[in-house]
Amino acid sequence: MIQNSQQITEKMNSAEETKRQLAFMERAGDYVEKLAKELGRRPTCCVTTFGCQMNARDSEKLSGILEKVGYELTDDEDADFVIYNTCTVRDNANQRVYGRLGHLNSLKKKNPHKKIALCGCMMQEPSVIEKIKKSYRFVDLIFGTHNIYKFAELLTAMFESDSMIIDIWQDTDQIVEDLPVERKYPFKSGINIMFGCNNFCSYCIVPYVRGRERSRNPKDIIKEIEALVADGVVEIMLLGQNVNSYGKNLEEPMTFAQLLREVEKIEGLERIRFMTSHPKDLSDELIQVMKESKKICRHLHLPLQSGSTRILEKMNRRYTKEQYLALAEKIRREIPDIAITTDIIVGFPGETPEDVDETIDVVKRVQYDNAFTFIYSKRTGTPAAAMEQVPEETVKEGFDRLLKVVQDTARERVELLQGQTLEALVEGVNEQDDSLLTGRLSNNTIVHFKGEKELIGKIIPVYLKECHGFYYLGELV
Ligand code: 5AD
Ligand code: SF4
Repeated sequence: MIQNSQQITEKMNSAEETKRQLAFMERAGDYVEKLAKELGRRPTCCVTTFGCQMNARDSEKLSGILEKVGYELTDDEDADFVIYNTCTVRDNANQRVYGRLGHLNSLKKKNPHKKIALCGCMMQEPSVIEKIKKSYRFVDLIFGTHNIYKFAELLTAMFESDSMIIDIWQDTDQIVEDLPVERKYPFKSGINIMFGCNNFCSYCIVPYVRGRERSRNPKDIIKEIEALVADGVVEIMLLGQNVNSYGKNLEEPMTFAQLLREVEKIEGLERIRFMTSHPKDLSDELIQVMKESKKICRHLHLPLQSGSTRILEKMNRRYTKEQYLALAEKIRREIPDIAITTDIIVGFPGETPEDVDETIDVVKRVQYDNAFTFIYSKRTGTPAAAMEQVPEETVKEGFDRLLKVVQDTARERVELLQGQTLEALVEGVNEQDDSLLTGRLSNNTIVHFKGEKELIGKIIPVYLKECHGFYYLGELV
């Protein structure tokens, strides 16, 4: 069965829609209870996330609903219900999903009750849906990014149908508040402040799969953060594809800097982060607010993408190399202890070794604390896909050259902290060595140190003893 419920629900307001979804949670809950009786145990579910922080937050929303309807959350894909929250920003993310689906199918053959669902950005691509309908018939439920708030309703439909349910919307204006959320960490949380993107960088598929930019009402954002703080959260990350254009489309427009001023006032909240900033929209007002703030972390993620003005123009980034450098210099001058991190793409159509030299020049001058370097991935439907592609060998050569400079400069920057004592939020037990705890400094650098588990979730001073490239070994003081 293929359904498309876009028209029915788009007419509702947020509060009505929340009520409607809560009713579906009860109905889905009845099916889960019935299943529990058959199995003689509580059914399990597993939410697997691919991609960015926005997807991680969406997965917390999916988990909240699954828990509410009676499932027990697990990390094991052997569960009775598995959902993949997918990413499509680069093709390798898509390939990983296809690869892992085969394994899910073999698990499903052993468990006749098992249900498999797919959602997220990859599902907004028509070619993906065609491929799944043809080659992955065992999938039970597919939906996209715009109707994730209807997950309870879709779950109910899945229980009531024997065939694949597909519900993909092209876009939406709807923002539905107050649905259940199951957080991964008790002490920190992401918060969506806006959805979608209007920038249309020529390589990027995000505007096509996440739709047009929509800002959440500031009152709803503040209310959500206050509730999180009351529930033990000390650090938040405000999430949006381009947070610097927050508020432009609100009935009463406000700037991102103004929103930050309001968030800063929330008592009990200790740290504020945000992601991602587009350089073209980063205002002096924002730099000022960051400079004056006691809570905004000393970290700015400022994607460069390329250091060549010629390539930046083809990418439709709307800034030049010189403008970016001037902005970075101004930020470093105003907030000297800030860490700047970035994203860089190598191999964009038409990029020459000389263009890569320009990018390397920016990396050396800005001295990034960390940089995520990506090989350009051709995304169907984007303007760059129709441009002449760079030979693989040339891309690889440029990528290796850039990576070396990125690693060397990042190490130099991170080393500057050696011997200082700085506050870290303790995030958990070290994954490799369970005698160590892992904490995060305000500037986003990671530090591992010996300590008791009771410190998890606390902000404590740590002495930075030994720099190991991107992270530190430290000591409690
Ligand atoms: N190919 C490679 N990297 C990409 N990004 C976005 N689209 C592509 C693409 N088609 C990178 C950008 C962005 C990050 C989230 O992913 O650097 O900032
Ligand atoms: Fe993609 Fe550019 Fe929007 Fe970022 S700002 S999501 S790179 S289109």
